[in-house]
Formats: sequence, C-alpha cells, structure tokens
Amino acid sequence: MKPIITSKDLVLYYDTFKALRGISMEIPEKQITAFIGPSGCGKSTFLKTLNRMNDLVPGVRVEGEVLFRDEDIFAPSVDVTTLRRKIGMVFQKPNPFPMSIYDNIAYGPRLHGTHSRAELNELVETSLKGAGLWDEVKDRLKKSALGLSGGQQQRLCIARALAVQPDVLLMDEPTSALDPASTMRIEELMATLREQYTVVIVTHNMQQATRISDKCAFFLLGEMIEFGDTEQVFSMPKDKRTEDYITGRFG
Ligand SMILES: Nc1ncnc2c1ncn2[C@@H]1O[C@H](COP(=O)(O)OP(=O)(O)OP(=O)(O)O)[C@@H](O)[C@H]1O
Ligand SMILES: [Mg+2]
Repeated sequence: MKPIITSKDLVLYYDTFKALRGISMEIPEKQITAFIGPSGCGKSTFLKTLNRMNDLVPGVRVEGEVLFRDEDIFAPSVDVTTLRRKIGMVFQKPNPFPMSIYDNIAYGPRLHGTHSRAELNELVETSLKGAGLWDEVKDRLKKSALGLSGGQQQRLCIARALAVQPDVLLMDEPTSALDPASTMRIEELMATLREQYTVVIVTHNMQQATRISDKCAFFLLGEMIEFGDTEQVFSMPKDKRTEDYITGRFG
C-alpha cells in the first residue's frame, strides 16, 4: 500500500538540542498509526512536524524530508494553511473556541471560503455526525461550546477538524484528559474515522494503542526504535528496548 506520509532521515533541533535524530517511516493511508514511548522521547515533536506546527516554535531547525503524497512539505511552494487543512490536528486538552457549537465547526470552512448558509449547515451536521456528537447537540447548536462536557468538547474538536475535509488527522493524546466513558466513545469514533481518514495518534496508554491502532511506532530519546503492525510490536517486539518499554520495565 502506498504511504500517505513519508519521513526520510528527519532531524529536528530546538536551538542546539537535537530532539529528533533521523526519523524514517512510511505512514500508511486509511489506517491508524500509534506513536508510543516514554515522556520526552519526541512523539509530539514528530507529530507536529508532519503538518509544520513546529514552524511556530522559535529556534526550530529541520533537516531531512517529509513527503505528503510525494510532495515535500518543506518546499518553498507549499502553502502551510493548505497543508494544515489537509493534515488536521487534535490536541490533548479540548480547546473549543469561545463561541457557539455551530460557529466552532463553521470557523474553518468560512476561513477557507465557504459562506453559503446551506453549505455550512450541511458541513456542520455531517462533521458533528462524523464525530458522534450530533444527537447530543443538534438542539443547542447556537449555545456556547464551553458549556459542553470535556468528552463532548473533545468530540467537538474532532468535528471541527473534520469540517475542513482533511486527509489526515493528527491526535496528540486526545483522551488523556477524559474519563473512561468519554475515552471509550472517542476510541469507537476512531474506528469509524479510519474508513475515511488516515489517523496518527500519540498515546501513553498501551491498551489503547493495542485496541485502536493498525501500526505502532516506538520512540526513545529522539529515535524511532521500532515500527510495525501493532500486533507484532506488542506480541513479538524485535528490539529489546521496545520489549522493556511495553512490559513496563521503564517509562
Ligand atoms: N518548544 C521546545 N523548546 C525546546 N525543547 C523542546 C520544546 N518542545 C519539546 N522540547 C524537548 O524536546 C524533547 C521531545 O519533546 P516532546 O514534547 O516531543 O516529547 P513527547 O514524547 O511528546 O513527551 P510527552 O510524552 O511527555 O508528551 C524533550 O526533551 C523536550 O523537552
Ligand atoms: Mg507529547
């Protein structure tokens, strides 16, 4: 299968600190890829590099290559706003905008030039349905998004990401601030997203990685130690360090 994102010898410095030490991997399309590894190993850094969120951090320098559908994302011709529309992001802490549920979802499409009321209505409904939130909010679309529960807010953020019709969703520990029931809802949601989108998720929860992901990459100290089918990585890790981590010997 053709990868949707390919990283080749990717090195990233925060000033003089080398946070990524040559990451090469191919992220398959329409699958869920999980990044695991101890705190500080570079999971978020690598994830944020994939849609150039790190551009916003002063002192960041990148070497190597990241291809999105064969296009170098660091090429001068690349429009970063378009790239981030195609490769969306959901963060650890739900971060709805302080506006209505409807306007949260319509925000991205409006920014990208959709202003027709009918089209926006349609996008809001399909995105909220896609994120499994429609039934809970369809009667209060004009109410503030800040009145939703944490789990609902996170699904709203997923809906907001879906509203601009991305190809890839990057998720950095999207359930770590949620209770078990909300976590389960999001995990169920991810299984449905996989039919249409490529999902890359960072998680500290090994059970979650085994439950939801097709592929799994283990990171350690800025390196990617192992990458393979999740089942293989967890049942028969090739590297001793992966084994030590997943069996809880460190991290
Ligand atoms: N903005 C920054 N400036 C300088 N160093 C940074 C910055 N962001 C991250 N780092 C450093 O880069 C390394 C990788 O950090 P990163 O946040 O990618 O780790 P992580 O694997 O996501 O960890 P966690 O599991 O705790 O979220 C760490 O040593 C971190 O201190
Ligand atoms: Mg992180």
